[in-house]
Amino acid sequence: MQILEDISGITVLDISGETRVGTSPKVSVPVYGERIVEGFRIWDPHRSKMAALLIKSHLAGTFKRLVSDLNLTPSSKVLYLGAATGTTASHFSDLVPAGLVYAVEFSARSMRDLLVLCAARDNIIPILEDASSPERYSPILEPVDLVYQDVAQRNQAEIANRNVELYLKGGGALVLMIKARSIDVTADPRVVYKAEVERLGGVEVISVADLRPYHRDHWAVVARRVAES
Ligand SMILES: C[S@@+](CC[C@H](N)C(=O)[O-])C[C@H]1O[C@@H](n2cnc3c(N)ncnc32)[C@H](O)[C@@H]1O
Repeated sequence: MQILEDISGITVLDISGETRVGTSPKVSVPVYGERIVEGFRIWDPHRSKMAALLIKSHLAGTFKRLVSDLNLTPSSKVLYLGAATGTTASHFSDLVPAGLVYAVEFSARSMRDLLVLCAARDNIIPILEDASSPERYSPILEPVDLVYQDVAQRNQAEIANRNVELYLKGGGALVLMIKARSIDVTADPRVVYKAEVERLGGVEVISVADLRPYHRDHWAVVARRVAES
């Protein structure tokens, strides 16, 4: 194993000729069956769109820029929309050991598994709510440094806009994973994702990346909240 890049707790590794990213947990215990290599939890790009984005950015030579755009520190606060059972949220939890991950998920079935993860990690706050009604979780939320969204809904940009407006700090980052086929199954996915990016408001789009070969018809948008003057 060889370390290729290591910034803000995200490590790019060469493992037997394969490029992977890993995070360093306080305790090296697998969460979703991922490999642990020399203390790193290997972030599976097939299971997590964020891992796919990070690997692709390394291969494109833009990893440093991407991680800097995320602007994460160990004490950052992350709002995670569509946490499911916590696969990707667990890696964010590794990245902000002194911070918090607010994990919003509306499926009670997924939440059951997420709660098991939260019991083992004191920096993930589970929120059983609909991300399209962000005002419902205002009593427990605070301004956050990063909004990460991965929900397969028709109105993905609208959900992002509402959460950004309520909770993202000025200058904070939005990472929006767009699943084009959830918006329109019949239209050309490239037309669909571009229209969805156009619908984003209150943010400046920094980059848009196609997540193939890991995730077909998915795009990752990285944006920054326009700071209020
Ligand atoms: C693709 S999965 C997320 C996978 C997860 N982000 C990961 O990488 O570990 C999408 C999740 O979003 C949840 N979801 C969809 N719409 C939602 C909404 N409006 N509010 C909250 N959760 C939602 C689904 O129940 C599902 O668990």
